[in-house]
Amino acid sequence: MCRRNQQPFRHIPVLLKEVLEWMKVEGEGVFVDGTVGMGGHSEAILETTSAKDLLYGFEWNEDSFLIAKKRLARFGDRVRLFNKSFTEIPETLEKEGVLAKAVLLDLGLSSFLLEDSERGFTFQKDEPLDMRMSYSYARLTAKEVLNHYDFLNLERVFSYGEVPASKKFAKFILEKRKNKTFETTGDLVQAVREFYRPGRREKELLAVVFQALRIEVNQEMQNLEKALQSIPQVLRKGGRFLVISFHSLEDRLVKRAFKGDPRLKPLTRKPIVPSEEEIRKNSRARSAKLRIAERV
Ligand SMILES: C[S@@+](CC[C@H](N)C(=O)[O-])C[C@H]1O[C@@H](n2cnc3c(N)ncnc32)[C@H](O)[C@@H]1O
Repeated sequence: MCRRNQQPFRHIPVLLKEVLEWMKVEGEGVFVDGTVGMGGHSEAILETTSAKDLLYGFEWNEDSFLIAKKRLARFGDRVRLFNKSFTEIPETLEKEGVLAKAVLLDLGLSSFLLEDSERGFTFQKDEPLDMRMSYSYARLTAKEVLNHYDFLNLERVFSYGEVPASKKFAKFILEKRKNKTFETTGDLVQAVREFYRPGRREKELLAVVFQALRIEVNQEMQNLEKALQSIPQVLRKGGRFLVISFHSLEDRLVKRAFKGDPRLKPLTRKPIVPSEEEIRKNSRARSAKLRIAERV
């Protein structure tokens, strides 16, 4: 039996206390969770806010969307869930004629996607090289990227993802695929081992290579840039924009966007990071950074 039916809510929401604290905005209105995932943050927002507050949730992964829908069903018509990308928040809210009192983006992967989706996000299991978080939004699979990208594009993916020796590694992939196409995560793990002979750094290197491919397949940076640009227009005055990122490239984009946007006032000069206690309980929180800006 697929593990996705056994422990669907295993994902622990990151920086939950801080998110709830910073999302407190005067007056009733609409909260938006742009990355509903397993619905952990959404559920807590609904539990701790007024019965007159609504939650609009966006989740592009088909399975996660259904799991969250079930989990949040008890809140009835306080919840509206959309199986859509967070890049569509502005047009969706505009169509509904509402402004948001707070928007949350919790980027990256949920435990469900990583461990149970069977889409090749983890190097710990041998799975097909897919890595699409959403079948409807992602154009390419990781397998297509590895087997068909030319040298320049492959090198771009690796260097952007801060993979060491990106040029040489891209060349190595091109050579390897002449003999045998990349089919599973196991093939990629093997290539990383052969090329880097990484020893104790193996997990770290595998994580970086897998992450670089995942970012490309899902166009994560492009989507984040779009959202940073367009979401301020659907925040009401005094409304808050919260972004949790897990990668220095994402955090840099968020920091710059918050600082350079005349519609926003950054409320966090330095990002908020998890306490040692949170990291002890949930190692996934380790690299999380929360930034908040207010609509002026
Ligand atoms: C870290 S998880 C969110 C976990 C959630 N906050 C919770 O507590 O359960 C990130 C989620 O965002 C989703 N996601 C990533 N990019 C997205 C996008 N552009 N639009 C909608 N959902 C997206 C992923 O599919 C994943 O389920």
